[in-house]
Amino acid sequence: MLIDNFKKSDVVARYLPKKLVSIDHAEAFAPSNIALCKYWGKRQSELNLPVNSSLSISLAHLGTRTQIRPSQTGEDQVMLNGQLLPVESPFASKVISFVDLFRRESSYPLVIDTRNNIPTAAGLASSASGFAALTLAINQYFKLQLPDSVLSAFARMGSGSASRSIYTGFVEWRMGRQEDGMDSHAFPLDVIWPDLRVGLVKVSTAAKAVDSRSGMKRTVETASLYQSWPAQAAQDLEKIHQALSEGSFSQLGAVAEHNAMSMHATMIASWPPLLYWQPDSVVAMQKIWALREAGVEVYFTMDAGPNLKLLFQEKNQTLLETEFSGLEVVTPFVESGSLSTSTATVKKSS
Ligand code: PMV
Repeated sequence: MLIDNFKKSDVVARYLPKKLVSIDHAEAFAPSNIALCKYWGKRQSELNLPVNSSLSISLAHLGTRTQIRPSQTGEDQVMLNGQLLPVESPFASKVISFVDLFRRESSYPLVIDTRNNIPTAAGLASSASGFAALTLAINQYFKLQLPDSVLSAFARMGSGSASRSIYTGFVEWRMGRQEDGMDSHAFPLDVIWPDLRVGLVKVSTAAKAVDSRSGMKRTVETASLYQSWPAQAAQDLEKIHQALSEGSFSQLGAVAEHNAMSMHATMIASWPPLLYWQPDSVVAMQKIWALREAGVEVYFTMDAGPNLKLLFQEKNQTLLETEFSGLEVVTPFVESGSLSTSTATVKKSS
């Protein structure tokens, strides 16, 4: 059931001061993230309120850095990776509408300078880190001093998965119940796994034909298989929590892979069918299953695209780099978890 009662602008306005002030320059970084238990389906589309809770791992230094400064030309200027974009381009118009939620009618022409350090070859979506970095930069630029939970809820309005990119490490996004969505935000989990690795397998970097927003809508509206998704996601989330508290890499990997395949099953059962895989995606899956048969602990997850993200432990890194040429390896917990909160518990996965 999709009820669009609340408007983003009304929700945001409640957190803004009567008169906005600004600083000269703001800059923020947010990491990209990979969901181990996926967000798939909205219960309310205006605010991106999800049908289920989800859990992800942030990709440390891979993500988006966004700067905001006043524009000297009197017009907004949106830059992506050093290139000035036409304001009517899809990227620039999304950025400008998001910034408009905060500056409302006041005229604050801005330069919004966005840089992704996600290797283009990795085929990773950058909307999660992009909206999270933009939200963090807006918070600084307008001196809003909002708590992370509110920033996470605001980032969610740009792109659901952006709610999780406000934090590093393992992150959970609770679906929430409130109509205004302010209890639908992410929070970081107190667990660090220094030996966890995420490997990015590039199958294709071409823009996808159906974006995740339309893909979710089509699945929710046309796939009867989708009815089983919320219960499966809730169960998988529980199992991932258990894997994290027991330090069981095998359970974490197996549940993440099963969760991704279940999500893809709902997509395939949509009409018209939604198949993000390409022949090489299946080749990579089969290789992973063969490696597992041979005793190498490697699992994968996939989002709304053809690329695979491998989950493995440090001890198998060299072998997997040989098996998958061009594998981009990310260490989510760099330098024994320095990106995580100081209270995080180091749990070596087994
Ligand atoms: O945040 P969106 O609208 O790009 O949707 C993300 C959907 C998935 O990547 C498939 C799953 C997830 O939880 O990130």
